[in-house]
Amino acid sequence: MSNYHIKNLEEYFQVYRKSVRDPETFWEEIAEENFVWQERWQQVLDFDLTVPRVNWFKGAKLNITENCIDRHLYAHGSKTAILFEPNDPSETSQHITYKQLHKRVCKFANVLKDQGIKKGDRVCIYLPMIPELAVALLACARIGAIHSVVFAGFSATALSTRINDCDCTLVVTSDGAFRGEKTIDLKAIVDEALGSCKGVKSVLVVKRTHSEIPMVENRDMWLQPLLDSASNHCEPEPMDAEDPLFILYTSGSTGKPKGMVHTTAGYMVYSAYTFKNVFQYREKDVYWCTADIGWITGHSYIVYGPLANAATTVLFEGVPSYPDWSRFWAIVEKHKVNQFYTAPTAIRALAKERLDFAENHDLSSLKILGTVGEPINEEAWHWYNDNIGKKRCPIVDTWWQTETGGIMISPIPHATPTIPTFATLPLPGIQPALMDEIGNELSGNSVSGRLCIRFPWPSMARTIWGDHQRYKDTYFSAFKGYYFTGDGALRDTTGYYRITGRVDDVIIVSGHNLGTAPIEDAINEHPAVAESAIVGFPHKIKGNALYGFVILKETGEQRDPANLRKEINQIITEHIGPIAKLDKIQFTKGLPKTRSGKIMRRILRKIACGETDRLGDISTLLNPEVVDAIIEDVL
Ligand code: WT7
Repeated sequence: MSNYHIKNLEEYFQVYRKSVRDPETFWEEIAEENFVWQERWQQVLDFDLTVPRVNWFKGAKLNITENCIDRHLYAHGSKTAILFEPNDPSETSQHITYKQLHKRVCKFANVLKDQGIKKGDRVCIYLPMIPELAVALLACARIGAIHSVVFAGFSATALSTRINDCDCTLVVTSDGAFRGEKTIDLKAIVDEALGSCKGVKSVLVVKRTHSEIPMVENRDMWLQPLLDSASNHCEPEPMDAEDPLFILYTSGSTGKPKGMVHTTAGYMVYSAYTFKNVFQYREKDVYWCTADIGWITGHSYIVYGPLANAATTVLFEGVPSYPDWSRFWAIVEKHKVNQFYTAPTAIRALAKERLDFAENHDLSSLKILGTVGEPINEEAWHWYNDNIGKKRCPIVDTWWQTETGGIMISPIPHATPTIPTFATLPLPGIQPALMDEIGNELSGNSVSGRLCIRFPWPSMARTIWGDHQRYKDTYFSAFKGYYFTGDGALRDTTGYYRITGRVDDVIIVSGHNLGTAPIEDAINEHPAVAESAIVGFPHKIKGNALYGFVILKETGEQRDPANLRKEINQIITEHIGPIAKLDKIQFTKGLPKTRSGKIMRRILRKIACGETDRLGDISTLLNPEVVDAIIEDVL
């Protein structure tokens, strides 16, 4: 078992070396000793990254819910699996034990079966952060249905695109959602989305806000009565190791979102292994990740990773600012949270508020702090370290992606010495490589380049739903035989990695991964807009904010610019969601383009960041004159 739980730096290096020397044996031992299998694999790994084809634990049969629930019932049946903390602090929190979770998952699974859902069918889950969300994921996994969770902050258009892309036939939602002071009419968004989703046969509705909502006959059903009459016995469906477990959409640099497909065995092994090591989880610990289950962080580190380790995982419905900015710290104190995992954007927002919000709470239960989603700046790191961890809690700066399924580069607490802004060292089994622009791997230390991974790891996404060619083009074509992450990174003198940010047209705003193309497509739908280009610029809280350069049609030029700006943001909200709204919109006559007609975002980015003295050579542009005009009007 020493492979499974690393305790010091020497052991890390030993384990790491073994994982590189013989990855198959390394993962085989972990898989063998820490999980239950219905049938053993015939081959640990079969792969060819040029196809690309990756199979882990080929031939094995298992069910992830047996590993996350059933096998804990004997020793941990009365232990809290999910600790639900509601939006409203005066509502009582719920301790859902492993035994209760088992019952709820089985009942929910039977309801899905009664609706005709079978192994391989896609189920869309569009729910707020309430226990039914986690239960719905597990119920799908129980019967082998593929879940596709859509973050409940996405708009009706974004929801319908995702439902149609993978042909979901059933949607799970709720009457509404509580978010701070607001009540959001979730069901209305679903109703609107389903106007263009003909394949959806049934909608299961969780009662949460008790708002009056219309129910469509022969389509919509309240979930609770169905659960009440369902049996609490449901055999776990035997799944092949490589059967899809879920689809999760992520933005790409071109229009359509990518439905990343994660499979069963590899994802389970890797999310469980990394959870145990990165958070040094011990039996009685209470672990809290503040992400939403609608993102990969929630899938891997609120649901699957923690439950596979029989952990107690906190599920928080609300926001850090409600009823005031002390809420996170009040929850840490109330539930004696030991590991706390959040995003840099949340840390920066909290750091801006009065310190006594944190100081008035007993944070002594905390042992480990984590961060994820974007590079953490030094100031935020120190604020977190000084005021929350009181300099005694290691900070794990975890780098990974929706596509990687689990944490890839991160310190291991008490083993890896941390340095602010460095994700430090690869976890066992992960072989990072830095590449130069023409595709050569950079050897040695003190180099920077494009971050790739040289060898398969168990939880890598296997394809993009319905578009394997796009999967190949996006991740395996830039550098032959490597997985390309889309990020830039540097390796310092000691071999530590620091992620420097995206090198493609994806911008991370408040930890949300936004592609420029879908936002531009939305803006271009405005009747007054001729063309647009989006870039990111640094923002104190959000990390990056969006800056739009917009060319108007002649008719648009007569319009009031303030109104136009409002309308443009309205369109973005409708098509994508409020997270993609632009902070600045500059109307311009032209956009800098290459001779082949490609917008030079690099130049616009410099302008938006106020670095107009560092534009580099612009003489090769088709229209260098527009650059001066844009700089003159810069906001
Ligand atoms: C992108 C992936 C993985 C869960 C949340 C985001 C950026 C993520 C870090 C970090 C610097 C980070 C990268 C990556 N990113 N973690 N610790 N330091 N950058 O998942 O939405 O798929 O976004 O987030 O740019 O490629 P995602």
